[in-house]
Amino acid sequence: MADKGEFGAEAKRLEGLWGGEFGNAYTERNQAAGSNRAPFWQAILKDFPARCVLEVGCNLGANLRWIASELRPEAVYGVDINLKALQELRCGLPGVNALYSPAKELPFRDRWFDLVFTMGVLIHQPPESLPAVMAEIVRCSNRFVLCGEYFSGEPVEVAYRGETGALFKRDFGSMYQQLFPDLILRKKGFLSKVEGWDDVTWWMFEKPRA
Ligand SMILES: C[S@@+](CC[C@H](N)C(=O)[O-])C[C@H]1O[C@@H](n2cnc3c(N)ncnc32)[C@H](O)[C@@H]1O
Repeated sequence: MADKGEFGAEAKRLEGLWGGEFGNAYTERNQAAGSNRAPFWQAILKDFPARCVLEVGCNLGANLRWIASELRPEAVYGVDINLKALQELRCGLPGVNALYSPAKELPFRDRWFDLVFTMGVLIHQPPESLPAVMAEIVRCSNRFVLCGEYFSGEPVEVAYRGETGALFKRDFGSMYQQLFPDLILRKKGFLSKVEGWDDVTWWMFEKPRA
């Protein structure tokens, strides 16, 4: 178990990576990342009605663009630590709330959103701070928690664009259930490359009523 200093140092290093040139380059490369995602988000919002939604690690809005076309943009929130991505999100989706925040300290009240989710973001959290990030996501949701991430039955680090300690696959669904045993699994699925995703496994959980 890392001591507090290590925990802070590794989380800070990765936040710096995503907040700098590395994150800017990701944003440049992924301008069209959301083009095939409409059917997934339409189905999710039909099956799991939400009036107010937060994406943690939203980048330029590849998911939020579809959510903002179903809900009032003012009810749609995204946080990220890359300022270029947030700027592009503000230009591309006027009215959507684009806020700078590290995932491990979300600037919202408990249960503020109906749905809080990540898509390809938990994989980029260091193991030491991952439980804190998940706890923040669960804290801010009043009802639904969704994560879509790369799956591996056993935790495994994968080299990512020349960086070490920057991408970890694991069973994020089981981890949510272990850390927050009150969460109820409502649905699980897989989004393949053929469908325009990147072989992403997703889990939709529901919190018990307050
Ligand atoms: C792989 S991208 C995924 C973007 C988007 N969720 C999607 O599905 O297209 C990861 C995003 O999470 C952001 N991110 C990574 N670590 C973060 C952290 N600790 N706090 C907030 N945002 C973070 C990055 O800046 C980047 O925009």
